[in-house]
Amino acid sequence: MANFPTAYDNLERFTDDLCDFIATPLIRQLTGGIHVNDALIHNSWETLPQEWTRWWSLISDHRLAQQDLINAIDEDAEPRSKGHGEQAQLSQSRPESLTEWLSTMKSLAISRTRCPGPTITLPEVLIARMKTKKISEVSIAAAYIQGVCQSRGITHIIDMGSGQGYLSISLAYLFPNLQILAIDSSKSQVAGSQLFATSLGIPESRLKHIVHLIDGSLGLSAIINNWADGQKCMLVGLHACGSLSEHILRYFTSVICIEALAVVGCCYNHIVPRSPSCPTGFPISSALREKGVMLSATALMTACQAPNNWGTLDKDRSRDKEKSDFGKRRLYRAIMEKILFDKGIKMNSRQKAFWGIRKGDLVHFTKFARRAMDCLEIDYDKITTVELLYYERKYQDYKSQIAILWTLSVLCCKVIESVIALDRYFYLVEQKADNVDIIPIFDFKISPRNLMVVAEKVVYKSQ
Ligand SMILES: C[S@@+](CC[C@H](N)C(=O)[O-])C[C@H]1O[C@@H](n2cnc3c(N)ncnc32)[C@H](O)[C@@H]1O
Repeated sequence: MANFPTAYDNLERFTDDLCDFIATPLIRQLTGGIHVNDALIHNSWETLPQEWTRWWSLISDHRLAQQDLINAIDEDAEPRSKGHGEQAQLSQSRPESLTEWLSTMKSLAISRTRCPGPTITLPEVLIARMKTKKISEVSIAAAYIQGVCQSRGITHIIDMGSGQGYLSISLAYLFPNLQILAIDSSKSQVAGSQLFATSLGIPESRLKHIVHLIDGSLGLSAIINNWADGQKCMLVGLHACGSLSEHILRYFTSVICIEALAVVGCCYNHIVPRSPSCPTGFPISSALREKGVMLSATALMTACQAPNNWGTLDKDRSRDKEKSDFGKRRLYRAIMEKILFDKGIKMNSRQKAFWGIRKGDLVHFTKFARRAMDCLEIDYDKITTVELLYYERKYQDYKSQIAILWTLSVLCCKVIESVIALDRYFYLVEQKADNVDIIPIFDFKISPRNLMVVAEKVVYKSQ
């Protein structure tokens, strides 16, 4: 079996357990049933198991409880029986049912621990424009791609969603035997990439750029075929956001000259769910479609999180100011939603998306509320200052609850991302691809979106 959780030696059982888990009422609630912003409207805290809320209520600093939850899904964390100190003692007192739920969640997540693999040291001319994260990703991805090309005699690479061209340019610069086609829908990204390639003396004959929307259309298949001119190709995508990854998979399976695939997804919130107006949307595999798997917008957003990369609590508990502002922002937003709900003030979705809150608006709730009302175009006389102060006082002690609810929802990130990766895996297998796998290719601490979906095609040699 490909790189699926070690607790499973059977893909069917893993798929069933994962799909059953994300369909439980608690996961449904946490990933969209009730958004944390609406927690005060729907009394979300009361819907959690009482044994858990009672325990959390006894913890004097909710940040310890948040850290405990995050540690529980950390692949590298020590078993709770082994640790020492305040955090370890806390985890040892955790209710058994919560521990069981957390370990189920952990056991259903595809591993993010980096698989050992080659890395290339990039020359200064290439890294000068890249951030540390991109340098690390390109060093690893380029080495992997070159290895596949060498072993399969592939000379042509198509980079979809090539952006500023960090990967395409590095491949072209490092391996002069390769021809690259870089495709992106953004004119400015392509222009930036072209400029960089030209500055390095890479001719258009070796690295061709095109501005094109990648949407599964046949027109792009024809362009690729024309460019490849019968040569073997590998299709790659580095942080191909949202549904772009799904389109890439479709081009891999439908364009004959493409023999190998390596794609890392990101920005899952841009995935388009399947609907009558988008029958090709998520999920793309028959396996998950038959199981009726659906992910809400909140669930997709959750999959973009990486709580295990958040900083840990300082010894003196002075978590940096940014994090405490973040908790305040969550609480204030929930209070404001409660006020709007209680007063029957409705907003359209355009308004709802725009709250325009700045750091300085977090000094106290009234400032936050007035700023939000300005952005949402709500007259001040609809909510008086006295009312704002009343709500602030009433809910000031709910910060811990909102923070824990938020952490619980973020905690679902690994299982939701696993569902998305599994869907892509199944799609490729159903399309008869070979050597399909999901490889944690990058160091998770540097690149939390580190799952690379890879596949090859069986090539039948004519006798
Ligand atoms: C997250 S960036 C990654 C860029 C590059 N691969 C890298 O790793 O630096 C995603 C890129 O995909 C492009 N993109 C997203 N959806 C696309 C689509 N449907 N068609 C073409 N390009 C797309 C964006 O313009 C953007 O440049």
